[in-house]
Amino acid sequence: MQIDPWGSSTYQDYARLREAFGIEAFGPEDVAVFRDPHPLLRRGVVFGHRDFGRVAAAVRGHDPWSVMTGFMPSGRLHLGHKMVLEQVVAHQKHGASVALALADFEAMAARNMTRQATQDLARREYVHNALALGLDGGDAPFYFQTGRRRVLDLAYLFAGRVNWSTLSALYGFSGETRLAHAMAPLVQAADILHVQMDQDGPRPVLVPVGVDQDPHIRLTRDIAQDWRTMNVQMTDQGVGVFVKPDEGVKGHLERAEAALRAEGYSDLKRHDAYKALYVRSATATDLRRIDVLMARIERHDNPHALLRPSATFHRFMTGLQGGKMSSSRPETSIYLTEEVKAAQDKLKRAVTGGRASAEEQRRIGAEPDKCPVYELYLYHVAESDAHLATVYDECKTGKRLCGSCKSEAGGLLANLLAGHKERRDEVEHLVDAAIAPSPAHNS
Ligand code: TRP
Ligand code: SF4
Repeated sequence: MQIDPWGSSTYQDYARLREAFGIEAFGPEDVAVFRDPHPLLRRGVVFGHRDFGRVAAAVRGHDPWSVMTGFMPSGRLHLGHKMVLEQVVAHQKHGASVALALADFEAMAARNMTRQATQDLARREYVHNALALGLDGGDAPFYFQTGRRRVLDLAYLFAGRVNWSTLSALYGFSGETRLAHAMAPLVQAADILHVQMDQDGPRPVLVPVGVDQDPHIRLTRDIAQDWRTMNVQMTDQGVGVFVKPDEGVKGHLERAEAALRAEGYSDLKRHDAYKALYVRSATATDLRRIDVLMARIERHDNPHALLRPSATFHRFMTGLQGGKMSSSRPETSIYLTEEVKAAQDKLKRAVTGGRASAEEQRRIGAEPDKCPVYELYLYHVAESDAHLATVYDECKTGKRLCGSCKSEAGGLLANLLAGHKERRDEVEHLVDAAIAPSPAHNS
Protein backbone atom coordinates (compact mmCIF):
# COMPACT_ATOMS: atom_id res chain seq x y z
CA MET A 1 0.00 0.00 0.00
CA GLN A 2 1.35 3.42 -0.93
CA ILE A 3 -0.14 6.90 -0.60
CA ASP A 4 0.24 9.11 -3.67
CA PRO A 5 -0.40 12.80 -2.94
CA TRP A 6 -0.88 13.55 -6.62
CA GLY A 7 -2.92 10.46 -7.49
CA SER A 8 -6.64 9.96 -7.78
CA SER A 9 -7.15 7.05 -5.44
CA THR A 10 -9.90 7.08 -2.86
CA TYR A 11 -9.43 5.80 0.65
CA GLN A 12 -12.09 3.76 2.35
CA ASP A 13 -10.57 1.83 5.15
CA TYR A 14 -9.16 4.45 7.48
CA ALA A 15 -8.43 2.05 10.30
CA ARG A 16 -6.24 0.05 7.96
CA LEU A 17 -4.48 3.20 6.76
CA ARG A 18 -3.72 4.09 10.34
CA GLU A 19 -2.26 0.70 10.97
CA ALA A 20 -0.22 0.51 7.78
CA PHE A 21 1.40 3.91 8.28
CA GLY A 22 1.53 4.25 12.04
CA ILE A 23 -0.97 7.09 12.15
CA GLU A 24 -2.34 7.38 15.68
CA ALA A 25 -6.01 7.32 16.65
CA PHE A 26 -7.44 10.18 18.72
CA GLY A 27 -8.36 9.50 22.29
CA PRO A 28 -11.17 11.45 23.95
CA GLU A 29 -8.59 13.26 26.10
CA ASP A 30 -6.90 14.61 22.94
CA VAL A 31 -10.02 16.22 21.57
CA ALA A 32 -10.90 17.50 25.04
CA VAL A 33 -7.91 19.86 25.17
CA PHE A 34 -10.01 22.29 23.17
CA ARG A 35 -12.83 23.92 25.05
CA ASP A 36 -15.11 23.70 22.02
CA PRO A 37 -13.71 21.02 19.72
CA HIS A 38 -14.81 21.43 16.12
CA PRO A 39 -17.52 18.98 14.99
CA LEU A 40 -15.07 17.49 12.48
CA LEU A 41 -12.93 16.38 15.41
CA ARG A 42 -15.86 15.36 17.57
CA ARG A 43 -17.42 13.30 14.82
CA GLY A 44 -14.27 11.45 13.85
CA VAL A 45 -13.98 13.02 10.39
CA VAL A 46 -10.51 13.96 11.53
CA PHE A 47 -9.62 10.35 12.13
CA GLY A 48 -5.97 10.29 13.09
CA HIS A 49 -2.81 12.21 13.84
CA ARG A 50 0.91 12.16 14.25
CA ASP A 51 2.32 13.56 17.47
CA PHE A 52 -0.77 15.53 18.40
CA GLY A 53 0.33 15.18 22.02
CA ARG A 54 2.90 17.90 21.41
CA VAL A 55 0.17 20.32 20.42
CA ALA A 56 -2.09 19.20 23.25
CA ALA A 57 0.72 19.89 25.72
CA ALA A 58 1.15 23.41 24.33
CA VAL A 59 -2.59 24.10 24.47
CA ARG A 60 -2.78 22.86 28.07
CA GLY A 61 0.32 24.76 29.12
CA HIS A 62 -0.76 27.96 27.32
CA ASP A 63 2.50 27.80 25.38
CA PRO A 64 2.73 29.22 21.85
CA TRP A 65 1.82 26.94 18.96
CA SER A 66 0.99 27.36 15.31
CA VAL A 67 -1.23 25.89 12.70
CA MET A 68 0.25 25.66 9.22
CA THR A 69 -1.14 24.13 6.08
CA GLY A 70 -1.20 24.74 2.37
CA PHE A 71 -3.32 24.50 -0.73
CA MET A 72 -2.43 23.71 -4.29
CA PRO A 73 -4.70 26.03 -6.27
CA SER A 74 -5.61 24.01 -9.32
CA GLY A 75 -9.40 24.25 -9.39
CA ARG A 76 -12.50 25.53 -7.68
CA LEU A 77 -12.94 25.00 -3.98
CA HIS A 78 -15.47 22.31 -3.09
CA LEU A 79 -16.98 21.05 0.13
CA GLY A 80 -14.11 18.62 0.61
CA HIS A 81 -11.64 21.51 0.79
CA LYS A 82 -13.78 23.34 3.29
CA MET A 83 -12.82 20.93 6.07
CA VAL A 84 -9.19 21.97 6.43
CA LEU A 85 -10.13 25.64 6.26
CA GLU A 86 -12.67 25.19 9.02
CA GLN A 87 -10.13 23.41 11.16
CA VAL A 88 -7.67 26.28 10.66
CA VAL A 89 -10.32 28.82 11.63
CA ALA A 90 -11.18 26.82 14.74
CA HIS A 91 -7.52 26.56 15.80
CA GLN A 92 -6.98 30.25 15.16
CA LYS A 93 -9.75 30.82 17.71
CA HIS A 94 -8.03 28.33 20.03
CA GLY A 95 -5.02 30.65 20.07
CA ALA A 96 -2.75 29.26 17.37
CA SER A 97 -0.89 31.60 15.08
CA VAL A 98 -1.58 30.78 11.45
CA ALA A 99 0.49 30.41 8.27
CA LEU A 100 -1.04 29.25 4.99
CA ALA A 101 0.87 28.37 1.85
CA LEU A 102 -0.63 28.99 -1.55
CA ALA A 103 1.23 26.28 -3.39
CA ASP A 104 1.82 27.96 -6.73
CA PHE A 105 5.18 26.23 -7.09
CA GLU A 106 3.53 22.85 -6.62
CA ALA A 107 0.73 23.65 -9.09
CA MET A 108 3.29 24.69 -11.67
CA ALA A 109 5.45 21.63 -10.98
CA ALA A 110 2.82 18.92 -10.60
CA ARG A 111 -0.10 20.29 -12.61
CA ASN A 112 1.68 22.24 -15.33
CA MET A 113 -0.19 25.42 -14.53
CA THR A 114 1.11 28.90 -15.26
CA ARG A 115 1.97 31.06 -12.30
CA GLN A 116 -0.67 33.59 -13.30
CA ALA A 117 -3.46 30.99 -13.53
CA THR A 118 -2.70 29.35 -10.20
CA GLN A 119 -2.28 32.66 -8.38
CA ASP A 120 -5.60 33.96 -9.75
CA LEU A 121 -7.35 30.81 -8.56
CA ALA A 122 -5.64 31.07 -5.19
CA ARG A 123 -6.99 34.57 -4.61
CA ARG A 124 -10.47 34.01 -5.93
CA GLU A 125 -11.12 30.58 -4.53
CA TYR A 126 -8.90 29.89 -1.55
CA VAL A 127 -8.25 33.21 0.11
CA HIS A 128 -11.68 34.67 -0.50
CA ASN A 129 -13.51 31.56 0.70
CA ALA A 130 -11.25 31.17 3.72
CA LEU A 131 -12.12 34.68 4.87
CA ALA A 132 -15.81 33.99 4.28
CA LEU A 133 -15.44 30.90 6.49
CA GLY A 134 -14.26 33.12 9.31
CA LEU A 135 -10.49 33.22 8.98
CA ASP A 136 -8.99 36.38 10.41
CA GLY A 137 -6.75 37.56 7.57
CA GLY A 138 -5.52 40.56 9.52
CA ASP A 139 -1.85 39.65 9.74
CA ALA A 140 -1.67 38.29 6.17
CA PRO A 141 -1.48 34.56 6.97
CA PHE A 142 -1.41 33.54 3.28
CA TYR A 143 1.70 33.61 1.14
CA PHE A 144 2.72 32.31 -2.26
CA GLN A 145 5.47 29.69 -2.26
CA THR A 146 7.31 31.39 -5.09
CA GLY A 147 7.03 34.73 -3.33
CA ARG A 148 8.67 33.76 -0.08
CA ARG A 149 12.41 33.66 -0.47
CA ARG A 150 13.07 32.13 2.94
CA VAL A 151 10.90 29.14 2.09
CA LEU A 152 12.75 28.51 -1.16
CA ASP A 153 16.12 28.94 0.57
CA LEU A 154 15.14 26.36 3.13
CA ALA A 155 14.03 23.96 0.38
CA TYR A 156 17.44 24.27 -1.32
CA LEU A 157 19.10 23.60 1.99
CA PHE A 158 16.98 20.50 2.71
CA ALA A 159 17.68 19.22 -0.80
CA GLY A 160 21.29 18.90 0.31
CA ARG A 161 20.45 16.06 2.66
CA VAL A 162 17.57 14.23 0.94
CA ASN A 163 18.43 11.66 -1.66
CA TRP A 164 16.62 10.12 -4.59
CA SER A 165 15.97 6.74 -3.04
CA THR A 166 14.12 8.40 -0.15
CA LEU A 167 11.95 10.35 -2.57
CA SER A 168 11.25 7.45 -4.88
CA ALA A 169 10.39 5.16 -1.96
CA LEU A 170 7.96 7.74 -0.59
CA TYR A 171 6.38 8.89 -3.83
CA GLY A 172 7.11 6.24 -6.45
CA PHE A 173 9.11 8.78 -8.48
CA SER A 174 10.82 7.27 -11.51
CA GLY A 175 13.34 8.24 -14.14
CA GLU A 176 10.62 10.18 -15.95
CA THR A 177 9.76 12.39 -12.96
CA ARG A 178 10.52 16.02 -13.70
CA LEU A 179 12.86 17.65 -11.24
CA ALA A 180 10.42 20.44 -10.40
CA HIS A 181 7.95 17.78 -9.33
CA ALA A 182 10.59 16.08 -7.21
CA MET A 183 11.38 19.46 -5.66
CA ALA A 184 7.75 20.05 -4.60
CA PRO A 185 7.94 17.90 -1.41
CA LEU A 186 11.05 19.81 -0.32
CA VAL A 187 9.27 23.12 -0.83
CA GLN A 188 6.37 21.75 1.20
CA ALA A 189 8.73 20.65 3.99
CA ALA A 190 10.10 24.20 3.92
CA ASP A 191 6.55 25.61 4.09
CA ILE A 192 5.89 23.57 7.20
CA LEU A 193 9.18 24.20 8.94
CA HIS A 194 9.85 27.84 8.10
CA VAL A 195 7.27 29.09 10.60
CA GLN A 196 9.61 28.07 13.42
CA MET A 197 12.40 30.21 11.99
CA ASP A 198 10.70 33.45 13.03
CA GLN A 199 11.38 35.35 16.23
CA ASP A 200 9.10 33.05 18.26
CA GLY A 201 11.41 30.14 17.54
CA PRO A 202 10.85 26.38 17.81
CA ARG A 203 7.31 25.49 18.82
CA PRO A 204 4.67 22.85 18.13
CA VAL A 205 3.17 23.26 14.68
CA LEU A 206 -0.01 21.45 13.73
CA VAL A 207 -0.52 20.63 10.07
CA PRO A 208 -4.15 19.71 9.31
CA VAL A 209 -4.32 17.86 6.00
CA GLY A 210 -6.05 15.10 4.09
CA VAL A 211 -4.43 11.74 4.60
CA ASP A 212 -3.02 11.84 1.06
CA GLN A 213 -0.45 14.32 2.39
CA ASP A 214 1.01 11.91 4.92
CA PRO A 215 4.14 11.10 2.87
CA HIS A 216 5.00 14.81 3.01
CA ILE A 217 4.46 14.82 6.75
CA ARG A 218 6.74 11.85 7.26
CA LEU A 219 9.42 13.41 5.07
CA THR A 220 9.18 16.73 6.90
CA ARG A 221 9.39 15.10 10.31
CA ASP A 222 12.50 13.19 9.25
CA ILE A 223 14.11 16.32 7.84
CA ALA A 224 13.44 18.24 11.06
CA GLN A 225 14.94 15.50 13.20
CA ASP A 226 17.92 15.22 10.89
CA TRP A 227 18.83 18.88 11.42
CA ARG A 228 18.58 18.79 15.19
CA THR A 229 21.73 18.91 17.31
CA MET A 230 20.17 16.78 20.03
CA ASN A 231 17.89 13.78 20.18
CA VAL A 232 15.44 13.80 23.05
CA GLN A 233 14.03 10.39 23.92
CA MET A 234 12.35 8.38 26.63
CA THR A 235 14.81 5.93 28.22
CA ASP A 236 14.66 3.65 31.22
CA GLN A 237 16.55 6.35 33.13
CA GLY A 238 13.96 9.02 32.38
CA VAL A 239 14.18 11.46 29.50
CA GLY A 240 17.50 11.23 27.69
CA VAL A 241 19.08 14.15 25.86
CA PHE A 242 21.73 12.96 23.40
CA VAL A 243 24.14 15.19 21.54
CA LYS A 244 24.51 14.16 17.89
CA PRO A 245 27.74 15.77 16.65
CA ASP A 246 31.11 14.82 18.10
CA GLU A 247 32.38 18.38 18.39
CA GLY A 248 31.43 20.80 21.12
CA VAL A 249 29.78 18.12 23.23
CA LYS A 250 30.68 19.74 26.54
CA GLY A 251 29.21 23.08 25.54
CA HIS A 252 25.99 21.49 24.32
CA LEU A 253 25.57 19.51 27.52
CA GLU A 254 26.35 22.53 29.69
CA ARG A 255 23.77 24.68 27.95
CA ALA A 256 21.26 21.83 28.14
CA GLU A 257 21.88 21.33 31.84
CA ALA A 258 21.61 25.03 32.66
CA ALA A 259 18.37 25.36 30.70
CA LEU A 260 16.86 22.31 32.41
CA ARG A 261 17.80 23.55 35.87
CA ALA A 262 16.33 26.94 35.09
CA GLU A 263 13.08 25.15 34.20
CA GLY A 264 13.10 23.43 37.58
CA TYR A 265 14.41 19.98 36.60
CA SER A 266 16.89 18.98 39.29
CA ASP A 267 17.30 15.22 39.10
CA LEU A 268 19.89 15.33 36.30
CA LYS A 269 22.68 12.96 35.43
CA ARG A 270 25.32 13.95 32.90
CA HIS A 271 27.38 11.43 31.03
CA ASP A 272 29.80 13.42 28.89
CA ALA A 273 31.58 10.36 27.50
CA TYR A 274 28.25 9.07 26.16
CA LYS A 275 27.28 12.59 25.01
CA ALA A 276 24.19 12.17 27.16
CA LEU A 277 22.20 13.89 29.86
CA TYR A 278 19.40 12.14 31.70
CA VAL A 279 16.46 13.89 33.29
CA ARG A 280 15.47 11.25 35.78
CA SER A 281 11.88 10.84 36.93
CA ALA A 282 10.72 12.89 33.95
CA THR A 283 7.43 11.83 32.32
CA ALA A 284 6.09 11.70 28.78
CA THR A 285 4.66 15.21 29.22
CA ASP A 286 8.08 16.41 30.34
CA LEU A 287 9.55 14.74 27.27
CA ARG A 288 7.65 17.10 25.00
CA ARG A 289 8.49 20.19 27.00
CA ILE A 290 12.13 19.18 27.20
CA ASP A 291 12.23 18.66 23.45
CA VAL A 292 10.94 22.21 22.88
CA LEU A 293 13.40 23.56 25.40
CA MET A 294 16.34 21.77 23.80
CA ALA A 295 15.36 22.90 20.29
CA ARG A 296 15.35 26.45 21.62
CA ILE A 297 18.80 26.27 23.15
CA GLU A 298 20.17 24.54 20.04
CA ARG A 299 19.44 27.83 18.31
CA HIS A 300 22.57 29.10 20.03
CA ASP A 301 24.60 27.73 17.13
CA ASN A 302 22.09 25.92 14.92
CA PRO A 303 19.57 28.13 13.10
CA HIS A 304 17.87 25.00 11.77
CA ALA A 305 16.95 23.49 15.11
CA LEU A 306 13.29 22.79 14.39
CA LEU A 307 10.73 20.63 16.12
CA ARG A 308 9.09 17.84 14.20
CA PRO A 309 5.66 19.05 13.15
CA SER A 310 2.45 17.36 14.25
CA ALA A 311 -0.35 16.55 11.85
CA THR A 312 -4.02 15.67 11.83
CA PHE A 313 -5.62 13.74 9.00
CA HIS A 314 -9.18 14.06 7.81
CA ARG A 315 -11.22 11.62 5.76
CA PHE A 316 -12.13 12.49 2.22
CA MET A 317 -15.66 13.25 1.19
CA THR A 318 -16.98 10.74 -1.25
CA GLY A 319 -18.08 12.28 -4.54
CA LEU A 320 -21.79 12.59 -5.19
CA GLN A 321 -21.47 9.82 -7.77
CA GLY A 322 -19.48 7.47 -5.50
CA GLY A 323 -15.72 7.72 -6.24
CA LYS A 324 -13.66 10.80 -5.50
CA MET A 325 -14.92 14.34 -5.06
CA SER A 326 -12.92 16.18 -7.66
CA SER A 327 -12.83 19.81 -8.79
CA SER A 328 -12.35 18.72 -12.36
CA ARG A 329 -15.55 16.62 -12.40
CA PRO A 330 -18.37 19.03 -11.52
CA GLU A 331 -20.99 16.31 -11.14
CA THR A 332 -19.02 14.80 -8.22
CA SER A 333 -18.66 17.90 -6.10
CA ILE A 334 -20.47 20.90 -4.72
CA TYR A 335 -18.46 24.07 -4.97
CA LEU A 336 -18.51 26.59 -2.18
CA THR A 337 -19.55 29.24 -4.70
CA GLU A 338 -22.15 27.07 -6.38
CA GLU A 339 -25.60 28.50 -7.11
CA VAL A 340 -28.17 26.93 -4.78
CA LYS A 341 -30.31 25.53 -7.57
CA ALA A 342 -27.34 23.88 -9.33
CA ALA A 343 -26.15 22.35 -6.05
CA GLN A 344 -29.57 20.95 -5.25
CA ASP A 345 -29.84 19.43 -8.73
CA LYS A 346 -26.53 17.65 -8.22
CA LEU A 347 -27.71 16.42 -4.87
CA LYS A 348 -30.90 15.02 -6.41
CA ARG A 349 -28.81 12.97 -8.82
CA ALA A 350 -26.41 11.73 -6.13
CA VAL A 351 -26.04 8.04 -5.41
CA THR A 352 -27.20 6.94 -1.95
CA GLY A 353 -26.98 3.99 0.40
CA GLY A 354 -30.67 3.34 -0.23
CA ARG A 355 -32.43 0.18 -1.38
CA ALA A 356 -33.98 -0.70 -4.71
CA SER A 357 -37.53 0.08 -3.57
CA ALA A 358 -39.17 2.12 -0.83
CA GLU A 359 -40.84 -1.04 0.40
CA GLU A 360 -37.52 -2.84 0.81
CA GLN A 361 -35.96 0.18 2.51
CA ARG A 362 -38.81 0.39 5.03
CA ARG A 363 -38.38 -3.31 5.70
CA ILE A 364 -34.58 -3.69 6.09
CA GLY A 365 -33.31 -0.10 6.37
CA ALA A 366 -30.60 1.59 4.30
CA GLU A 367 -26.83 2.02 4.57
CA PRO A 368 -25.77 5.48 5.81
CA ASP A 369 -22.15 4.39 6.01
CA LYS A 370 -22.11 3.99 2.24
CA CYS A 371 -24.05 7.14 1.43
CA PRO A 372 -22.58 10.44 0.16
CA VAL A 373 -25.75 12.22 1.28
CA TYR A 374 -25.18 11.01 4.82
CA GLU A 375 -21.63 12.34 4.53
CA LEU A 376 -23.06 15.70 3.65
CA TYR A 377 -24.91 15.68 6.96
CA LEU A 378 -21.90 14.34 8.83
CA TYR A 379 -19.33 16.78 7.42
CA HIS A 380 -21.36 19.88 6.80
CA VAL A 381 -25.06 20.29 7.32
CA ALA A 382 -26.19 18.41 10.42
CA GLU A 383 -27.11 21.12 12.88
CA SER A 384 -26.09 19.18 15.96
CA ASP A 385 -24.69 15.80 16.91
CA ALA A 386 -28.19 14.82 18.01
CA HIS A 387 -29.62 15.71 14.61
CA LEU A 388 -26.89 13.65 12.97
CA ALA A 389 -27.68 10.66 15.16
CA THR A 390 -31.35 10.94 14.21
CA VAL A 391 -30.53 10.89 10.50
CA TYR A 392 -28.32 7.87 11.01
CA ASP A 393 -30.82 5.90 13.06
CA GLU A 394 -33.78 6.72 10.86
CA CYS A 395 -31.81 5.70 7.78
CA LYS A 396 -30.57 2.48 9.29
CA THR A 397 -33.99 1.43 10.55
CA GLY A 398 -35.86 2.29 7.37
CA LYS A 399 -37.88 5.13 8.84
CA ARG A 400 -36.26 7.59 6.44
CA LEU A 401 -36.45 7.39 2.68
CA CYS A 402 -33.86 8.84 0.34
CA GLY A 403 -36.11 11.32 -1.46
CA SER A 404 -37.13 13.22 1.65
CA CYS A 405 -33.67 12.79 3.16
CA LYS A 406 -32.20 14.50 0.11
CA SER A 407 -34.67 17.35 0.23
CA GLU A 408 -33.95 17.95 3.89
CA ALA A 409 -30.21 17.98 3.13
CA GLY A 410 -30.89 20.20 0.12
CA GLY A 411 -32.63 22.77 2.30
CA LEU A 412 -29.76 22.86 4.77
CA LEU A 413 -27.27 23.05 1.94
CA ALA A 414 -29.15 26.01 0.47
CA ASN A 415 -28.77 27.86 3.78
CA LEU A 416 -25.11 27.04 3.94
CA LEU A 417 -24.41 28.24 0.41
CA ALA A 418 -26.56 31.37 0.70
CA GLY A 419 -24.93 32.33 4.00
CA HIS A 420 -21.52 31.73 2.52
CA LYS A 421 -22.32 33.91 -0.47
CA GLU A 422 -23.33 36.75 1.80
CA ARG A 423 -20.15 36.47 3.81
CA ARG A 424 -18.09 36.39 0.62
CA ASP A 425 -19.54 39.77 -0.32
CA GLU A 426 -18.77 41.13 3.13
CA VAL A 427 -15.11 40.10 3.10
CA GLU A 428 -14.23 40.71 -0.53
CA HIS A 429 -12.39 43.92 0.25
CA LEU A 430 -10.09 42.05 2.68
CA VAL A 431 -8.70 39.53 0.19
CA ASP A 432 -5.55 41.37 -0.89
CA ALA A 433 -4.52 42.26 2.64
CA ALA A 434 -4.75 38.59 3.70
CA ILE A 435 -1.87 37.67 1.38
CA ALA A 436 1.68 38.58 2.33
CA PRO A 437 3.26 40.64 -0.44
CA SER A 438 5.55 38.80 -2.86
CA PRO A 439 8.58 40.61 -4.22
CA ALA A 440 8.45 41.31 -7.97
CA HIS A 441 9.44 38.42 -10.21
CA ASN A 442 11.39 38.58 -13.39
CA SER A 443 10.35 35.23 -14.81
N1 TRP B 1 0.54 19.58 -1.19
C1 TRP B 1 -0.61 20.27 -0.70
C2 TRP B 1 -1.82 19.99 -1.63
O1 TRP B 1 -1.70 19.28 -2.56
C3 TRP B 1 -0.41 21.75 -0.61
C4 TRP B 1 0.65 22.20 0.35
C5 TRP B 1 1.73 22.97 0.04
C6 TRP B 1 0.71 22.00 1.77
N2 TRP B 1 2.45 23.26 1.13
C7 TRP B 1 1.86 22.71 2.21
C8 TRP B 1 -0.08 21.31 2.68
C9 TRP B 1 2.20 22.72 3.56
C10 TRP B 1 0.27 21.31 4.03
C11 TRP B 1 1.42 22.02 4.46
O2 TRP B 1 -2.88 20.50 -1.43
FE1 SF4 C 1 -28.55 8.18 2.37
FE2 SF4 C 1 -30.57 9.49 3.47
FE3 SF4 C 1 -31.01 7.43 1.79
FE4 SF4 C 1 -30.02 7.00 4.22
S1 SF4 C 1 -32.01 7.82 3.74
S2 SF4 C 1 -29.29 6.11 2.32
S3 SF4 C 1 -28.72 8.82 4.51
S4 SF4 C 1 -30.06 9.39 1.30
